[in-house]
Amino acid sequence: MSRAPGRAPRDPKEPVSLMSLQPNKILGAVLAVAVVAFAIDFVSDQIFAKQDLKTPGYVVDMNAAPAVAAAEAPAPAAVEPDPNASAPAGAQQAATAADAGAAPETQQVAAAAPAAAAASDVAPIADRLKTADVAAGEKASKVCTACHSFADSGANKVGPGLWEVVNRKPGTHEGFKYSPAMMTFGETHTWDYATLDVYLTNPKAEVPGNKMAFAGVKKPEDRANLIAYLRSLSANPAPLP
Ligand code: HEC
Repeated sequence: MSRAPGRAPRDPKEPVSLMSLQPNKILGAVLAVAVVAFAIDFVSDQIFAKQDLKTPGYVVDMNAAPAVAAAEAPAPAAVEPDPNASAPAGAQQAATAADAGAAPETQQVAAAAPAAAAASDVAPIADRLKTADVAAGEKASKVCTACHSFADSGANKVGPGLWEVVNRKPGTHEGFKYSPAMMTFGETHTWDYATLDVYLTNPKAEVPGNKMAFAGVKKPEDRANLIAYLRSLSANPAPLP
């Protein structure tokens, strides 16, 4: 075994008391390293100020979820479910293609067309709400619950509580820190059915700069079902249009 420090001083003349400081020296060195590390961390934080992400790190694409709902919905002809329908939610392209239902060609077109173009040949939300299915909407809303609570407590999560959101002023739910974009939007808008319909089609397009990291609900029926469900989240649901 090697000599234990302090037991066999290299220099016999060296005072024993000094050698007994060896553990303290080691401790001191460790602390010094820690202090330097903290200092570097602090200084680098000053130099490289942290910035909020301008664009969200991830965007939830919901086309996968409605595919499931649509597959369960009564389809005119028993269309063989696209094998892609069971693809993981991440496979957005596949999911869009699998946006199951009646006529695959029309849906491809609808999926590919920009929201504005698609909106023009879509029945107005007032009409679609007449045949909307609240239960299907509740199912489709599962994808929202990652960020929103629908409870009547109005609790906020990543996004504001959505209880009684219909006919509310955008950006006004108590206790939620909205983006400036959403608050500005609220100065000139109300969450009526039509506004919700457009917003939920493509949130980023309708309210540029808002911080809802969500790609949108592309299928008009899915949006109608969702909005019918949102309407039900109230002690006094707003009248249908
Ligand atoms: C990834 C998280 C996330 C998902 C998923 C999400 N949202 Fe949001 N949502 C937000 C955030 C954050 C805001 C606040 C936006 C802002 O302040 O710019 C918001 C705002 C809203 C608003 C405006 C509310 C108000 O008080 O003005 C509505 C309506 C809304 N979301 C509906 C939905 C619906 C319906 C879904 C599901 C189809 C959904 N959201 C999915 C995060 C999300």
